[in-house]
Amino acid sequence: MSIKNVRLEVMQAIEPKVEGFIDEFLIPTEKIWQPTDFLPDSQSDHFFDEVEKIRGEAKELGYDFWVTLVADTITEEALPTYESWLMDVEGIDQHNGKENGWSKWVRAWTAEENRHGDVLNKYLYLSGRVNMREIEITTQHLISDGFDIGTDRDPYKNFVYTTFQELATNISHKRVGKMARKKGNPLLAKMCTIIAGDEMRHHLAYREFVKTIMGQDPDGMVLAFADMMKKKIVMPAHFLRESGGTIGEAFEQFSNCAQRLGVYTAQDYIDILKKLNDYWDIGNLRGLSDQADKARVYLMKLPERLQRISERMQFSQDQYTFKWVEANGRL
Ligand SMILES: [Fe+2]
Ligand SMILES: [Fe+2]
Repeated sequence: MSIKNVRLEVMQAIEPKVEGFIDEFLIPTEKIWQPTDFLPDSQSDHFFDEVEKIRGEAKELGYDFWVTLVADTITEEALPTYESWLMDVEGIDQHNGKENGWSKWVRAWTAEENRHGDVLNKYLYLSGRVNMREIEITTQHLISDGFDIGTDRDPYKNFVYTTFQELATNISHKRVGKMARKKGNPLLAKMCTIIAGDEMRHHLAYREFVKTIMGQDPDGMVLAFADMMKKKIVMPAHFLRESGGTIGEAFEQFSNCAQRLGVYTAQDYIDILKKLNDYWDIGNLRGLSDQADKARVYLMKLPERLQRISERMQFSQDQYTFKWVEANGRL
């Protein structure tokens, strides 16, 4: 039997459980928060006063902060890339004529995620601190450029990727929220914190998917996990560019801002890996094939190796000027 068929069989075997995962990890549409819960009500007579307040508070936030918030927003806005990618993964079938649990999951997850870019985009627009047109151009470029995350159509690799990324976004939104609160921006702080909460639920769900697969096909799952870590988990917005720029050019500059600000760092990457090793109990997996056992040992040693590398790593302190955040955003 080919590797491809084993994956398909495992996905089909787990599929009846997905309905339960949706109930456990997602929140019904009518109960969950919506962007307008955190934004001025445009039907209210106080709308302009509330917008004034947002604009006043926004003046206290620094240059790296705006760049990071803009790039986080654009990353969320590129959701069409993620949904179309996941829909194409082996075993996630939206065409089989009956309701497939996995495609239902992807749609429901997308529906929750869609609120993130929505609320942040509206906030940025009202803040008056950023160049919305440049942000829109970058967003259009990013969706058009797609991404290359090295997962192929493999569900195992894709779920490792999403488990990792959901926690990475939880960390960065949470930290941006804390900074906003510190600088006297309670509304923005609330938005970021509530988004971070969604990301955490999604992380827990994908983490569970991997664990369930691990129970069915430990060899295949460990090999897929190790393969993803060898390639490194790239950010979904790694193709980020500004107007007139080339693919990926803006990403490195943004990444430096996020590092400087401490919103998402090389240490976070290592900490996430350690957490995944722990939760999936990689250290105690036994009865693996020789190849899978080698992958297991590699995964257990990797955090320490990355730690040594990260201690030598340096990132630029130079302030690059983005088209998204012009002089008006500089403090
Ligand atoms: Fe999100
Ligand atoms: Fe997410």
